[in-house]
Amino acid sequence: MKGIILAGGKGTRLYPMTIPVSKQLLPIYDKPMIYYPLSVLLLAGIKEILLISTKESIDLYKDLLGDGKQLGISIEYKIQPKPNGIGDAFILGEDFIKDDNVCLILGDNVFYGNGLTEMLEKASKSKPNFGALIFGYSVNNPTDFGVVEFNDKYEVISLEEKPKVPKSKYAVPGLYFYDNNVINIAKNIKPSDRGELEITDINKEYLKRGDLKVQIMWRGMAWLDTGTPSNMLRASSFVETVQERQGLYIACLEEIAWRKGYINDKQLKESGEKLKKTDYGKYILSLLER
Ligand code: G1P
Repeated sequence: MKGIILAGGKGTRLYPMTIPVSKQLLPIYDKPMIYYPLSVLLLAGIKEILLISTKESIDLYKDLLGDGKQLGISIEYKIQPKPNGIGDAFILGEDFIKDDNVCLILGDNVFYGNGLTEMLEKASKSKPNFGALIFGYSVNNPTDFGVVEFNDKYEVISLEEKPKVPKSKYAVPGLYFYDNNVINIAKNIKPSDRGELEITDINKEYLKRGDLKVQIMWRGMAWLDTGTPSNMLRASSFVETVQERQGLYIACLEEIAWRKGYINDKQLKESGEKLKKTDYGKYILSLLER
């Protein structure tokens, strides 16, 4: 399975912070936001990754993450020339995806919690032509998201993008697993009223074909909102609280790569040495002594 991180958009809801810099490079506590979705792909066991961003920001991501070798993975980059929507990722990513399955994660989505790794590993091992897998997460403000309605057998009944009157409390997080048909589906959907290829329209097409599954992320899992300054602050506090209490880091990319066996002790040490003035770097170095 291939992985795509979409880190586009102007981030207008976070102006003035995002006038000079891409939203997904802003910090969530002690690391750039993009670390969190990248950590999700690493945990899923996905090692071939395409990062899509705007012309203005793409080099900043390259400076930050390079070709991925330091994490034992490969990261490629692609410019999204226009904000054509989330569905555009599969058209821009066609040559990268080739005939594989693909996982898409939005660059501003933060996940954490019990059972997440197992859930991700299982999804990333999906067979060819498995259809699509989305998630449902109970939220207070479903009108701000894609919303999924399902029956007591967890079969999807309907999907709506930012409905005024939501049919359920379950938002669809920005993490999606697709078979290779997603490329053709993305090419054939029409832009919405806001001029974007909506991810919800792609999911609706899978639903129509009887190929859409939903899995619920239950209460032990955190899907954090980073859409407003308050929500960013809450997400930062959450990360700080957990890290401070447990002495274990959330989304430490080097740690995940090392635990997964993508890099060895020497490579981990090299990464830690570069950052050793910070708690993040000290944490990486401490892993070798535990
Ligand atoms: C997008 C999707 C929406 C999804 C959300 C998750 O919304 O369109 O379906 O629930 O991401 O973060 P946006 O953030 O572009 O408003």
